[in-house]
Amino acid sequence: MMRNLLIISNWKLNGSKYLIKNFVSNISLIVKNYNFSIVIAPPLLYLDYMQYIIQLYNCDNYISLSAQNIDTNNYGSFTGEISAKMLKDIGIKYAIIGHADRKVFHNENSSTILKKFAILKSEGITPILCIGETKTEYQANQTIVICIKQIDNIINNFGILAFKNTIIAYEPIWAINKKTVINPIYIQDVHKAIRNYLMKYNDEISKNINIQYGGSVSNENILNLLKQPDIDGVLVGRASLNISNFIKMLNVVNNFYSC
Ligand code: 13P
Repeated sequence: MMRNLLIISNWKLNGSKYLIKNFVSNISLIVKNYNFSIVIAPPLLYLDYMQYIIQLYNCDNYISLSAQNIDTNNYGSFTGEISAKMLKDIGIKYAIIGHADRKVFHNENSSTILKKFAILKSEGITPILCIGETKTEYQANQTIVICIKQIDNIINNFGILAFKNTIIAYEPIWAINKKTVINPIYIQDVHKAIRNYLMKYNDEISKNINIQYGGSVSNENILNLLKQPDIDGVLVGRASLNISNFIKMLNVVNNFYSC
Protein backbone atom coordinates (compact mmCIF):
# COMPACT_ATOMS: atom_id res chain seq x y z
CA MET A 1 0.00 0.00 0.00
CA MET A 2 1.42 3.39 -1.03
CA ARG A 3 -0.93 5.62 0.94
CA ASN A 4 0.54 8.19 3.31
CA LEU A 5 -1.28 9.13 6.45
CA LEU A 6 -2.42 12.72 6.10
CA ILE A 7 -3.81 15.06 8.73
CA ILE A 8 -5.56 18.02 7.12
CA SER A 9 -6.67 20.96 9.22
CA ASN A 10 -9.36 23.22 7.78
CA TRP A 11 -9.53 26.50 9.67
CA LYS A 12 -12.64 27.66 7.80
CA LEU A 13 -13.37 31.32 8.66
CA ASN A 14 -11.07 31.40 11.69
CA GLY A 15 -7.52 32.45 12.40
CA SER A 16 -5.28 35.48 12.68
CA LYS A 17 -1.59 36.33 12.26
CA TYR A 18 -1.26 35.70 15.99
CA LEU A 19 -2.74 32.21 15.74
CA ILE A 20 -0.55 31.37 12.76
CA LYS A 21 2.66 32.34 14.56
CA ASN A 22 1.63 30.52 17.69
CA PHE A 23 0.51 27.47 15.76
CA VAL A 24 3.63 27.11 13.63
CA SER A 25 6.08 27.89 16.44
CA ASN A 26 4.49 25.19 18.64
CA ILE A 27 4.18 22.58 15.92
CA SER A 28 7.71 23.24 14.69
CA LEU A 29 9.01 21.73 17.94
CA ILE A 30 7.48 18.32 17.26
CA VAL A 31 6.60 17.99 13.61
CA LYS A 32 10.04 16.86 12.48
CA ASN A 33 9.64 13.62 14.40
CA TYR A 34 6.36 12.69 12.78
CA ASN A 35 6.08 10.00 10.17
CA PHE A 36 2.94 11.45 8.60
CA SER A 37 2.13 14.62 6.70
CA ILE A 38 0.25 17.70 7.82
CA VAL A 39 -1.69 20.03 5.56
CA ILE A 40 -3.19 23.26 6.89
CA ALA A 41 -5.94 25.20 5.13
CA PRO A 42 -6.07 28.68 6.68
CA PRO A 43 -8.29 31.39 5.18
CA LEU A 44 -7.03 32.37 1.71
CA LEU A 45 -5.91 35.78 2.95
CA TYR A 46 -3.33 34.18 5.23
CA LEU A 47 -1.83 31.58 2.90
CA ASP A 48 1.18 33.63 1.86
CA TYR A 49 1.85 34.80 5.41
CA MET A 50 1.57 31.29 6.81
CA GLN A 51 3.91 30.02 4.11
CA TYR A 52 6.43 32.66 5.20
CA ILE A 53 6.12 31.66 8.87
CA ILE A 54 6.44 27.97 8.04
CA GLN A 55 9.67 28.70 6.16
CA LEU A 56 10.89 30.86 9.01
CA TYR A 57 10.56 27.89 11.36
CA ASN A 58 12.14 25.50 8.81
CA CYS A 59 8.99 23.42 8.62
CA ASP A 60 8.30 23.58 4.90
CA ASN A 61 9.26 19.93 4.49
CA TYR A 62 6.72 18.92 7.14
CA ILE A 63 3.73 21.23 6.79
CA SER A 64 2.02 21.96 3.47
CA LEU A 65 -0.71 24.47 2.82
CA SER A 66 -4.05 24.17 1.15
CA ALA A 67 -6.55 26.75 -0.08
CA GLN A 68 -10.09 26.37 1.21
CA ASN A 69 -11.54 27.41 -2.13
CA ILE A 70 -10.70 28.83 -5.56
CA ASP A 71 -12.60 30.50 -8.35
CA THR A 72 -13.67 28.64 -11.48
CA ASN A 73 -11.63 31.14 -13.55
CA ASN A 74 -7.92 31.76 -13.66
CA TYR A 75 -8.10 35.55 -14.29
CA GLY A 76 -10.44 38.26 -15.48
CA SER A 77 -13.31 40.35 -14.25
CA PHE A 78 -14.26 38.30 -11.19
CA THR A 79 -14.08 40.71 -8.27
CA GLY A 80 -13.23 39.18 -4.94
CA GLU A 81 -11.99 35.85 -6.25
CA ILE A 82 -8.70 33.94 -6.02
CA SER A 83 -7.44 31.72 -8.83
CA ALA A 84 -5.59 28.42 -9.01
CA LYS A 85 -2.91 30.23 -10.99
CA MET A 86 -2.36 32.60 -8.06
CA LEU A 87 -2.12 29.68 -5.66
CA LYS A 88 0.48 28.08 -7.87
CA ASP A 89 2.33 31.39 -8.09
CA ILE A 90 2.79 31.45 -4.30
CA GLY A 91 3.60 27.73 -4.11
CA ILE A 92 0.40 26.28 -2.65
CA LYS A 93 0.10 22.52 -3.24
CA TYR A 94 -3.53 21.71 -2.34
CA ALA A 95 -7.02 23.15 -2.59
CA ILE A 96 -10.27 21.96 -1.05
CA ILE A 97 -13.22 21.84 -3.43
CA GLY A 98 -16.83 20.80 -2.94
CA HIS A 99 -16.77 21.42 0.80
CA ALA A 100 -20.18 21.19 2.49
CA ASP A 101 -19.91 24.83 3.63
CA ARG A 102 -19.53 25.89 -0.01
CA LYS A 103 -22.45 23.71 -1.07
CA VAL A 104 -24.73 24.89 1.71
CA PHE A 105 -23.82 28.59 1.90
CA HIS A 106 -22.52 29.34 -1.61
CA ASN A 107 -24.55 27.06 -3.87
CA GLU A 108 -21.49 25.14 -5.06
CA ASN A 109 -22.88 22.42 -7.31
CA SER A 110 -21.54 19.58 -9.41
CA SER A 111 -20.84 21.82 -12.40
CA THR A 112 -18.87 24.36 -10.30
CA ILE A 113 -16.94 21.51 -8.71
CA LEU A 114 -16.04 20.17 -12.16
CA LYS A 115 -14.71 23.56 -13.27
CA LYS A 116 -12.68 23.95 -10.09
CA PHE A 117 -11.34 20.42 -10.39
CA ALA A 118 -10.25 21.04 -14.00
CA ILE A 119 -8.54 24.33 -13.24
CA LEU A 120 -6.63 22.84 -10.29
CA LYS A 121 -5.46 19.95 -12.43
CA SER A 122 -4.31 22.34 -15.15
CA GLU A 123 -2.18 24.20 -12.57
CA GLY A 124 -0.81 21.03 -10.97
CA ILE A 125 -2.48 21.66 -7.60
CA THR A 126 -3.85 18.61 -5.79
CA PRO A 127 -7.62 18.81 -5.31
CA ILE A 128 -9.00 17.72 -1.94
CA LEU A 129 -12.38 16.70 -3.29
CA CYS A 130 -15.07 16.64 -0.62
CA ILE A 131 -17.95 14.29 -1.13
CA GLY A 132 -20.77 13.27 1.15
CA GLU A 133 -24.48 13.04 1.70
CA THR A 134 -27.08 15.19 3.46
CA LYS A 135 -28.96 13.95 6.51
CA THR A 136 -32.04 13.18 4.40
CA GLU A 137 -29.96 11.14 1.96
CA TYR A 138 -28.32 9.33 4.87
CA GLN A 139 -31.70 8.51 6.41
CA ALA A 140 -32.88 7.23 3.04
CA ASN A 141 -29.87 4.88 2.93
CA GLN A 142 -28.44 6.73 -0.05
CA THR A 143 -24.93 7.41 1.26
CA ILE A 144 -23.00 5.18 -1.15
CA VAL A 145 -25.20 6.09 -4.12
CA ILE A 146 -24.59 9.80 -3.49
CA CYS A 147 -20.83 9.39 -2.98
CA ILE A 148 -20.52 7.38 -6.16
CA LYS A 149 -22.57 9.93 -8.07
CA GLN A 150 -20.15 12.65 -6.93
CA ILE A 151 -17.19 10.50 -7.97
CA ASP A 152 -18.82 9.71 -11.31
CA ASN A 153 -19.12 13.44 -11.89
CA ILE A 154 -15.31 13.48 -12.15
CA ILE A 155 -14.82 10.13 -13.90
CA ASN A 156 -17.42 10.87 -16.59
CA ASN A 157 -15.83 14.19 -17.41
CA PHE A 158 -12.10 13.62 -16.93
CA GLY A 159 -11.63 9.85 -16.72
CA ILE A 160 -10.40 7.74 -13.84
CA LEU A 161 -6.79 8.93 -14.22
CA ALA A 162 -7.89 12.34 -12.97
CA PHE A 163 -7.93 10.73 -9.53
CA LYS A 164 -4.17 10.40 -9.65
CA ASN A 165 -2.82 13.14 -7.35
CA THR A 166 -6.29 13.78 -6.00
CA ILE A 167 -7.44 13.34 -2.44
CA ILE A 168 -10.99 12.31 -1.64
CA ALA A 169 -12.48 13.57 1.61
CA TYR A 170 -15.64 11.85 2.74
CA GLU A 171 -17.49 14.45 4.80
CA PRO A 172 -21.11 13.60 5.52
CA ILE A 173 -22.75 17.04 5.57
CA TRP A 174 -24.83 16.11 8.60
CA ALA A 175 -21.80 15.00 10.64
CA ILE A 176 -19.86 18.26 10.51
CA ASN A 177 -19.50 20.37 13.65
CA LYS A 178 -21.34 17.95 15.93
CA LYS A 179 -20.60 16.78 19.47
CA THR A 180 -19.77 13.20 18.59
CA VAL A 181 -18.30 11.48 15.59
CA ILE A 182 -20.34 8.86 13.74
CA ASN A 183 -19.47 5.20 14.07
CA PRO A 184 -15.98 4.52 12.61
CA ILE A 185 -17.19 1.16 11.29
CA TYR A 186 -19.88 2.91 9.30
CA ILE A 187 -17.30 5.35 7.92
CA GLN A 188 -14.96 2.46 7.08
CA ASP A 189 -17.77 0.80 5.11
CA VAL A 190 -18.32 3.96 3.08
CA HIS A 191 -14.58 4.37 2.41
CA LYS A 192 -14.32 0.74 1.39
CA ALA A 193 -17.26 1.10 -0.97
CA ILE A 194 -15.62 4.17 -2.56
CA ARG A 195 -12.31 2.31 -2.95
CA ASN A 196 -14.03 -0.74 -4.40
CA TYR A 197 -15.86 1.43 -6.87
CA LEU A 198 -12.60 3.03 -8.04
CA MET A 199 -11.07 -0.43 -8.33
CA LYS A 200 -13.53 -1.28 -11.10
CA TYR A 201 -11.81 1.39 -13.16
CA ASN A 202 -8.21 1.28 -12.03
CA ASP A 203 -6.54 -0.92 -9.45
CA GLU A 204 -3.53 1.36 -8.91
CA ILE A 205 -5.62 4.45 -8.32
CA SER A 206 -7.94 2.60 -5.99
CA LYS A 207 -5.03 1.29 -3.91
CA ASN A 208 -3.07 4.53 -3.79
CA ILE A 209 -5.68 7.22 -3.36
CA ASN A 210 -6.03 8.87 0.04
CA ILE A 211 -9.59 8.77 1.32
CA GLN A 212 -9.83 11.14 4.26
CA TYR A 213 -12.69 11.36 6.73
CA GLY A 214 -14.04 14.70 7.98
CA GLY A 215 -16.80 15.52 10.45
CA SER A 216 -16.34 16.20 14.19
CA VAL A 217 -12.94 14.54 14.44
CA SER A 218 -11.30 15.13 17.84
CA ASN A 219 -8.33 13.84 19.81
CA GLU A 220 -10.72 11.46 21.54
CA ASN A 221 -12.03 9.75 18.42
CA ILE A 222 -9.16 10.07 15.92
CA LEU A 223 -7.52 6.80 16.87
CA ASN A 224 -10.59 4.68 16.28
CA LEU A 225 -10.95 6.32 12.90
CA LEU A 226 -7.36 5.79 11.86
CA LYS A 227 -7.44 2.15 12.92
CA GLN A 228 -9.82 1.51 10.02
CA PRO A 229 -7.94 0.18 6.99
CA ASP A 230 -9.59 2.47 4.45
CA ILE A 231 -9.47 5.71 6.43
CA ASP A 232 -6.17 7.23 5.30
CA GLY A 233 -6.33 10.38 7.35
CA VAL A 234 -8.70 13.03 8.54
CA LEU A 235 -9.93 16.48 7.62
CA VAL A 236 -10.33 18.27 10.94
CA GLY A 237 -12.14 21.56 11.49
CA ARG A 238 -12.93 22.88 14.97
CA ALA A 239 -10.67 20.54 16.95
CA SER A 240 -7.59 21.73 15.08
CA LEU A 241 -8.04 25.41 15.99
CA ASN A 242 -6.96 24.99 19.56
CA ILE A 243 -3.21 24.48 19.42
CA SER A 244 -2.78 22.33 22.52
CA ASN A 245 -5.71 20.22 21.44
CA PHE A 246 -4.33 19.82 17.95
CA ILE A 247 -0.88 18.92 19.26
CA LYS A 248 -2.49 16.31 21.50
CA MET A 249 -4.20 14.91 18.44
CA LEU A 250 -0.96 14.81 16.46
CA ASN A 251 0.80 13.07 19.34
CA VAL A 252 -1.93 10.46 19.62
CA VAL A 253 -1.50 9.74 15.92
CA ASN A 254 2.26 9.70 16.15
CA ASN A 255 2.30 7.32 19.14
CA PHE A 256 -0.03 4.97 17.37
CA TYR A 257 2.04 4.89 14.21
CA SER A 258 5.37 4.58 15.97
CA CYS A 259 4.27 1.39 17.78
P1 13P B 1 -15.46 19.80 12.13
O1 13P B 1 -14.24 18.98 12.43
O2 13P B 1 -15.50 21.12 12.84
O3 13P B 1 -16.73 19.01 12.27
O4 13P B 1 -15.36 20.21 10.58
C1 13P B 1 -15.15 19.23 9.63
C2 13P B 1 -14.92 19.89 8.34
O5 13P B 1 -15.83 20.41 7.74
C3 13P B 1 -13.54 19.93 7.85
O6 13P B 1 -13.48 20.37 6.54
